Amino acid sequence: MIESLRQDFKQLYGNDNTRVFFAPGRINLIGEHTDYNGGHVFPCAISFGTYAVARKREDDRIRLYSKNFKNLGMVEFTINNLSFIKAHDWANYPKGVLSVFKQNGYNIDSGFDVLFYGNIPNGAGLSSSASIELVTSVMLNELFELNVEMISMVKMSQKAENEFIGVNCGVMDQFAIGMGKEGYAILLDCSTLAYRYSKIDLKDASLVIANTNKRRGLADSKYNERRNECERALSQLQQKLDIKSLGELTEETFEANKHFITDETDRKRAKHAVYENQRTLKAVDALEKGDIELFGKLMDASHISLRDDYEVTGKELDTLVELAWKQKGTIGARMTGAGFGGCTVSIVKNDYIDAFIENVGRQYAQKVGYEASFYVASIGDGAKEIQQ
Ligand code: GLA
Repeated sequence: MIESLRQDFKQLYGNDNTRVFFAPGRINLIGEHTDYNGGHVFPCAISFGTYAVARKREDDRIRLYSKNFKNLGMVEFTINNLSFIKAHDWANYPKGVLSVFKQNGYNIDSGFDVLFYGNIPNGAGLSSSASIELVTSVMLNELFELNVEMISMVKMSQKAENEFIGVNCGVMDQFAIGMGKEGYAILLDCSTLAYRYSKIDLKDASLVIANTNKRRGLADSKYNERRNECERALSQLQQKLDIKSLGELTEETFEANKHFITDETDRKRAKHAVYENQRTLKAVDALEKGDIELFGKLMDASHISLRDDYEVTGKELDTLVELAWKQKGTIGARMTGAGFGGCTVSIVKNDYIDAFIENVGRQYAQKVGYEASFYVASIGDGAKEIQQ
């Protein structure tokens, strides 16, 4: 695949002195909508991702092309013209990252040509956008020998998404994609960015991703509305409690103080944020003790909370998860990512995976009217240059 991408680059730009970079997508195992609430998340990088074949230029031109958006053709601009242009569509992601690097004073002194190719299903909630941001970051870092640490690239990528693209996401996706490690998930405290790797040993079971194939765009989803609801709840609690985020609360403190949140909806949102954060800590503890069954039960509880209290699931995700729960061999199942469509993640015993895909797939199509897609996930490394 790498070789054929290099060939594509040569055909397009007429040069073969290229370097190749990769950034994965991510799934979150548990800890949903907790990152911007100062809580914990437990994501991992997957083996699907975004490739960038690139070469520096002598002049100040930048040319970007994506094999995934052939109809949009080549996007061209110059290094001192980095404004958001709607017609540039997907290319605003790499442009945004470049713009943040420049704002931070990194010396990017020439243009470059890039060919992108991604095999993450777009809009599936597996973070294709953070993936293209991180592959761009790593590419800039290597091509221009900038010596930036991964954690800074994670933050700059998130900043590009927040300020250039205008999506107010938390840090989870960029962090998982930058810092991922084969075979491990990451327990990340989003309030301090303290983290540790935790080995994912599911014994005789695997992670199965199911895509609802309902398209969702974070930008036009209710994501920002949820953030506002949580902020409102927090500020009412802060009149009584000395806290900086909902992530600081235990279930008990929340229950004792929740009446200070006057709006019932805001109260439900805050409840999810508090309980989900505690659930994440319990789940990682269970997994590290080898108790996969308990981890699975906490995944189920996470979905129920996202469905009933946070209200970010919807018919498609609920159908997939509820069908998954009924299958023999399912240890746990939940939605993953922002919600409102996108993917679910299930832990399924290996002997039952074929039947799982067959049964859930058939019944989903009957109920929803179109097909879901299934992948057995393998946990891969974070963003990096691919050495030849
Ligand atoms: C999206 C955002 C993340 C996080 C999740 C929900 O993936 O990009 O920052 O908030 O939703 O957990």
